[in-house]
Amino acid sequence: MTGQVSIIAVDGPSGSGKGTICQLLATRLGYHYLDSGAMYRLLALAAKRHKVALDDVEDLAVLAAHMDISFRMNSSGGHPEVILEGEDVTQQIRSEDISAGSSLVAAIPAVRMALLERQRAFASAPGLVADGRDMGTVVFPDAPVKIFLNASPEERAKRRYNQLMDKGESVSLAALVENVRSRDERDMTREVSPLVPAQDAVEIDTTGKDIQEVLNTVLDIVRTSEMSAQRS
Ligand code: C5P
Repeated sequence: MTGQVSIIAVDGPSGSGKGTICQLLATRLGYHYLDSGAMYRLLALAAKRHKVALDDVEDLAVLAAHMDISFRMNSSGGHPEVILEGEDVTQQIRSEDISAGSSLVAAIPAVRMALLERQRAFASAPGLVADGRDMGTVVFPDAPVKIFLNASPEERAKRRYNQLMDKGESVSLAALVENVRSRDERDMTREVSPLVPAQDAVEIDTTGKDIQEVLNTVLDIVRTSEMSAQRS
C-alpha cells in the first residue's frame, strides 16, 4: 500500500502478455492503469518529432520531464489511448522503429529519473496496476503485489507476428525473434533499472497459456495478498 492506494506491480519483457493482463486486471478491480512502456515510447516519438537525437542525453531528459502526454480510455472499447501534444498516437508508438528507440532512451539514467515521479503520480485510490520493467524493483518497491510475467522469446515474437499480421503488415518471424532478443538483451543488461524480477515477485511463465488462465492466476495472487493483509 502507498497510503490507502493498493499497487499491483507487473513487470516482464514485451510479448509476455503484460499489457493485456494489466488492462484486464485494472478493469476487473476498478483500478487505474499505468503503461510505463508507453512513456518511453512517447519519448522516442517526441524526440523524433522535435529532432532530438537518441543519444542527446541532456535534451532527452528535458523532453522526458516536460513532454505533453496523457492517457485516456476510448469511448467504445474501453482501450487506453495514448496522447502526445493533443494527438492520438496509440498506433504510431507501436511501430518497430519506435519500439527500438524506446529501448535506447530507456537505458539513459537521466531519462529514467525524469520519468520516475511522473510514473509515481499515477498512484491514486482505489489502486493502480503498474505495467513495466522496473515497477516492482524501482518505481513502486513497496507494492504489496509484484508479478513477473515471462514467455520464451520464440513465443513472444510469434505473438507480435500475429498482431502485425492481423493489422495486415507483412513481417518476417525470424526478424521479430531477433528484435525480441536484442531488446531483451539491452533491457536486461543495462546499468539502470535492468529488467529483473523483484526479489519478492511471483514469476509466471505464460508460454502456451491463454490470457484467461494467466488472469486467473494473477487474480488468485491478488486475493491471497489481500487476505494476508487483512489478517495482519
Ligand atoms: O512495455 P513496452 O514494450 O511498451 O516498453 C517499451 C520499452 O520501454 C522497453 O523495451 C523497455 O526498454 C522500456 N521500458 C523500461 N522500463 C519500463 C517500461 C518500459 O525500460 N518500466
